[in-house]
Amino acid sequence: MKQKIVVYNRLEAPVLHKLQEKYEVHFFKDINTKTDPDFIAHLAGADALIGLELPVDRELLDHAPNVKIVSNVSVGYNNLDIDELTKRGIMATNTPGILTDTVADTMMTILLSTARRVPELDHWVKQGDWEKMIEVEHYGIDVHHKTLGIIGMGRIGEAIAQRAHFGFDMDILYHNRSRKPEVEEKFNATYCDLDDLLMQADFICLMTPLTPETTGLLGEREFKLMKQSAIFINGSRGKTIVEADLIEALQNGEIAAAGLDVFEEEPVHPDNPLLKMKNVITVPHIGSSTWETELKMSELAAHNLELGLEGKCPPNLINKRVWEMQK
Ligand code: GLV
Repeated sequence: MKQKIVVYNRLEAPVLHKLQEKYEVHFFKDINTKTDPDFIAHLAGADALIGLELPVDRELLDHAPNVKIVSNVSVGYNNLDIDELTKRGIMATNTPGILTDTVADTMMTILLSTARRVPELDHWVKQGDWEKMIEVEHYGIDVHHKTLGIIGMGRIGEAIAQRAHFGFDMDILYHNRSRKPEVEEKFNATYCDLDDLLMQADFICLMTPLTPETTGLLGEREFKLMKQSAIFINGSRGKTIVEADLIEALQNGEIAAAGLDVFEEEPVHPDNPLLKMKNVITVPHIGSSTWETELKMSELAAHNLELGLEGKCPPNLINKRVWEMQK
């Protein structure tokens, strides 16, 4: 009998088709566990779960007693209750590495477009307002030779530092759980405590994973520490900041602008004041969303899943204790 897999929210079609050849696959798009009894019913016989963003917690796992592996199609895994999965001996995997350059490209895109006001001026041109030379009120600000503060110097933070240092001659400050001498050497980066970084940087790029320690990391106090000319970029998760405090900082002119790939609530509510601000650039959580990278992420997530189901150790196992316990 084929093993049974429940897929939710996103898995690229070629990968889904490959899994269908080998397993009994049930695909649920845009899943809401609270309102989808069919989904809950399928969890009962599932051997593995694979997909994006679904909160996999005690309540959900109670419906899925046979699951051996939960494979996230993302590098972030704040949607997974790792302690609960570990307690139940269920493997959890993610897709690090392959999306690094793509996300770093996205962050530079957002940073540059915020500084140079690309979406705002694009709109201005398209609605026919370009009747004479642009005036001073449409000027942007320079990116090159400015100071970039990166909070969270993981793989993606490093790839951003590389682009900013070598491509734009930026000075790099960084804050991280631990110092990284090789990063300091490669990109001439300076380690700072968080407050110093916030006070000195022209651009602040937040890239930490969402954990209990980073929830609400930047709030009223932190936005007040930033320069009034600062541009804030969030590429981590919406909940690493206090969004209401960012809104206030922007409304009060305490910082100049923001470029946001992530929001406290996703999809972002249409009434969110951030959507009305010209100096805020918003994109719908597109960090890794290119054809090439999404496909690679799906392939890697499926590979993790297949190995887990074959009783082998998946390359991107998050809770290694489960594997140690099985040995
Ligand atoms: C995207 O946000 C990811 O975690 O892969």
